[in-house]
Amino acid sequence: MEPTRPRVRNVSETPAEDVRRAVEAAVWAPSVHNTQPWIFSHRGSRITLRADPDRRLGVADPTGREMVISCGAALLTLRVAIRRLGYRPEVRLLPDPDRPNLLADVILGARIPPDGDDRRLYDQIRRRRTHRGGFAPGDGVSPALRAKLRLEAQREGAGLPAVEDPHALHSLAALTEAAEHLQQLDAPYLHESARWAPRPGSPRPEGVHEESYPRRERRTDPYFPGRDFSRGQGWGAPPEPAREEVTGLVLLITTSGDAPDDWLRAGQALQRVLLRAAQDDVSAAFHTQALEIPELRELVRRRFCGGRHPQMLLRLGRAGAARPGVRRPAEQSMVEDF
Ligand SMILES: Cc1cc2nc3c(=O)[nH]c(=O)nc-3n(C[C@H](O)[C@H](O)[C@H](O)COP(=O)(O)O)c2cc1C
Repeated sequence: MEPTRPRVRNVSETPAEDVRRAVEAAVWAPSVHNTQPWIFSHRGSRITLRADPDRRLGVADPTGREMVISCGAALLTLRVAIRRLGYRPEVRLLPDPDRPNLLADVILGARIPPDGDDRRLYDQIRRRRTHRGGFAPGDGVSPALRAKLRLEAQREGAGLPAVEDPHALHSLAALTEAAEHLQQLDAPYLHESARWAPRPGSPRPEGVHEESYPRRERRTDPYFPGRDFSRGQGWGAPPEPAREEVTGLVLLITTSGDAPDDWLRAGQALQRVLLRAAQDDVSAAFHTQALEIPELRELVRRRFCGGRHPQMLLRLGRAGAARPGVRRPAEQSMVEDF
């Protein structure tokens, strides 16, 4: 687990220092395959967020939907950090329609004292980790937390329906399993995902490392298979002592449209939900395989989302100790604007 101590602004520091601190926090957002597909350029108190097309998954994510969701998660993290540093974030989404990689302008605006909510969310940024595998049995997500998470998603313009019907749950699990098999048959997909699955001991500060997935997953009922980041080599963290594991609460993040601004909203909703859940020691596992296959995504949209567009599929529950995470140093995704 990463150190969680907030680094608090000292009044004598310049905004440049605060800009750097905000970006240092933002890079801890989740991103598909830990591609970290963002570039932050800055000038004075303005930070411009761009998607980095060189980090898009050309096979799994040809439209850049998951890349923009990842950037949306970084944008929410930036907003939380800016508030924690004592500024009101002023955000403009997609400021120039002719430049599709230009996602948002964020200004460190008027000074405001951070409130308790800002502090609590900020404290989860480096602590939150993606979980892979089953969850501890028991009631992981209380009805009260579930209601709060739905409101957090709505605040960012997204829906967060829970999937509870056993037939719907088994259907979604089976679609995830089918997608996983289809992707395993797809050589370009495998080649691409291997690029983001570093071999054990690799010092690369990106991709999904073996400490962050189990060597063997225990089957839950229903069972949502994880992606094979081990490239079929048996890599992964050693198994935990035998224990019962459950699926957890299955949720979808949905949006009314399916354009880049919807994806940005979905990413912000995702990260707000994850940070809020982490406050209660609830972790999330993601299963977006079926949403990468257009036919399956369309089926999920019609059958399980009431026609809204599914952007993410996640499970929530209580996990054991968090596994470590890696990121590129913030400077590597920062550019000074002149
Ligand atoms: C759009 C998106 C899709 C993702 N899909 C999956 C997935 O299908 N399976 C998975 O194990 N993790 C998935 N993740 C989680 C990332 O792999 C994870 O965020 C990244 O490796 C960084 O690790 P961390 O979240 O622990 O910091 C997804 C994340 C995002 C933002």
